[in-house]
Amino acid sequence: MGRLNEKVAIITGGASGIGASMATLFRNEGATVIAADINQEALDKISEHENIHGMKLDVSSEEDWQALVENVESQFGKIDILINNAGVTSEKTIDQINYKDWEFLSKINGFGAMMGIKYVAPAMAKNNSGSIVNLSSVTAQVGMGLNSYSASKGSVRAISKAAATQYGRNGIRVNAVFPGVIETPMTKNLDSSKDALNRINALTPLGRLGKPEDVANAILFLASDDAAYITGAELAIDGGYSAL
Ligand SMILES: NC(=O)c1ccc[n+]([C@@H]2O[C@H](COP(=O)([O-])OP(=O)(O)OC[C@H]3O[C@@H](n4cnc5c(N)ncnc54)[C@H](O)[C@@H]3O)[C@@H](O)[C@H]2O)c1
Repeated sequence: MGRLNEKVAIITGGASGIGASMATLFRNEGATVIAADINQEALDKISEHENIHGMKLDVSSEEDWQALVENVESQFGKIDILINNAGVTSEKTIDQINYKDWEFLSKINGFGAMMGIKYVAPAMAKNNSGSIVNLSSVTAQVGMGLNSYSASKGSVRAISKAAATQYGRNGIRVNAVFPGVIETPMTKNLDSSKDALNRINALTPLGRLGKPEDVANAILFLASDDAAYITGAELAIDGGYSAL
């Protein structure tokens, strides 16, 4: 018996890294998974797995969200789980940032998560049940130098609390997770931060960087009915880095 039997789960950014790891884990736990991503090539690949349905979505587009929710409801009848996982990063320091950089990060990481909640929560409310998990970041809690990224992830933290209070009476739980440095395509591409990543690795109490499965397993708990009385919570998944 899987922990997500008969659940319908949307995972944004579900075609790569942490999102792809969640897609296979949730599928293995019995869910019907919609991997929603902007990268069509990666979506085609992940959709080869049984019970993982790739659907194109730009999380910063309200039209895309509206179409996705209509599509999922008409094909699968309901939405039980939303994981707001799609994200982008930037290594620019404060002196290098301009409005365009700020807007790019904020519209995908912050606005994208908020639009996910705006369009999916009403579908969940029809069944008076749902679980939403938003991916913030350790950079929203401690200074790590990824400035506009940290700011956008700080907004995810605040949005999660606000949504938990707004939708609790509709049976919808909203929680946030704060991954540390996880080995995915996102961190592999952080060229100018390689030294910083090595320093973080050396400082991390558990003595290693995270793997996508470390994050996927923790989110599985929050997404599942095992977390039925948990909403508005914040869970660090960082090997103890934020406890330093
Ligand atoms: N890797 C880490 O160290 C780390 C740490 C903390 C938080 N996070 C967060 O975890 C989430 C997943 O990160 P990852 O490391 O797996 O990254 P990744 O780059 O491997 O995957 C991100 C996915 O998001 C998709 N995406 C980007 N823009 C999109 C858009 N506009 N609409 C829809 N999809 C879009 C990409 O195509 C990709 O498939 C992100 O929100 C990231 O900020 C990652």
